Amino acid sequence: MVTTAEQPTAAWIPGPILGIETSCDETAASVLAEDGAVLSNIITSQHAVHQRFGGVVPELASRAHIESIEDVSAEALQQAGLSWTDLTGIAVTQGPGLAGALLVGVNFAKALAYALNIPVVGVSHLEGHIASAWLQDPAFPLPCVVLVVSGGHTHLYYKAPSGLCRLLGATRDDAAGEAFDKGAQMLGLEYPGGPSLDRLAQQGNRDSIAFPRSYLKKGSLDFSFSGLKTALLYTLQAIPEQFRAQRAADFAASYQEAIVTVLVDKAFAAARSAGAPALAVVGGVSANSRLRMLLQQRAASENMRLSLPSLAYCTDNAAMIAAAGRQTLRFGHRATLDLDAQASMMSPFAHAI
Ligand code: KG4
Ligand code: ZN
Repeated sequence: MVTTAEQPTAAWIPGPILGIETSCDETAASVLAEDGAVLSNIITSQHAVHQRFGGVVPELASRAHIESIEDVSAEALQQAGLSWTDLTGIAVTQGPGLAGALLVGVNFAKALAYALNIPVVGVSHLEGHIASAWLQDPAFPLPCVVLVVSGGHTHLYYKAPSGLCRLLGATRDDAAGEAFDKGAQMLGLEYPGGPSLDRLAQQGNRDSIAFPRSYLKKGSLDFSFSGLKTALLYTLQAIPEQFRAQRAADFAASYQEAIVTVLVDKAFAAARSAGAPALAVVGGVSANSRLRMLLQQRAASENMRLSLPSLAYCTDNAAMIAAAGRQTLRFGHRATLDLDAQASMMSPFAHAI
């Protein structure tokens, strides 16, 4: 992706790339080989730092990134069996995300690129998630539809044979990950909420409560999860507090089902209406066990090629950033040293077709 701080340069000499990701509460570094193979994928989670606050505290996130970025990057190099001087490029998440957290990664990447005299490029976190669909399946075809489901996004894209993206639909309120996290909070589950709710739901009856499924108007590929969240709140309020714990698994399973069935229905509807034979589902929520099962079943019955990255590539990681940056570097672009964090960056729109 070409930002104002990037300039076309002489052809890049391909070789190992370091990816760096610090947009939220994971400090991650990864090394990709010249052919795009993942040589290392190191992720340090800050969950312990934020747990007692029930959510990410931006200032604490920035500090934790500062403390671990160098070690995490060195470990990525070591696990790849390489040294700093073997690197031929650096890709770093430029946005969207927490401004202070992003700045840690961007400044570290620029300093490293300057010291090693190699190019650095800024990458959109969203483009990183999209690129994760090809990490383990480089032959995954285009055109395809990509559903990005994370803590900040629920976006459906058509990815054309050229690689450019067109937005087909997006959430009108909460992202799917937010719906999971807020639902988990209402149920009193441990932070981070999405994985906790997923685990609890496995013991519950998903048909026990008929939570609303918001499809919006006929044919719409947009999403809305705020009504569902309110429905859970009212359901919980209607039950005496002493009985809530014993029903929690049923609530979790029914609530989760209402989220994932809409995601699956809309993703397949989008692929069908776009005439795409392939669907990729990426981002943290794609780690959800029920969503993965439904996607796999539907893909088999509809003969749809599905890319569903392994769990390590669903939630935030730096391999996906290196993969997206690798494409940018191959186009011959590199950032200048005024590369800055962009907390509200939405680069797939810049590629709109
Ligand atoms: O992609 P990601 O790691 O970070 C963002 O870019 O936002 O996604 C994080 C989101 C969180 O909302 C988290 O609760 C959710 O993904 N998540 C899950 C699961 N694992 C992570 N949601 C449901 N089930 C899961 N197993
Ligand atoms: Zn993410």
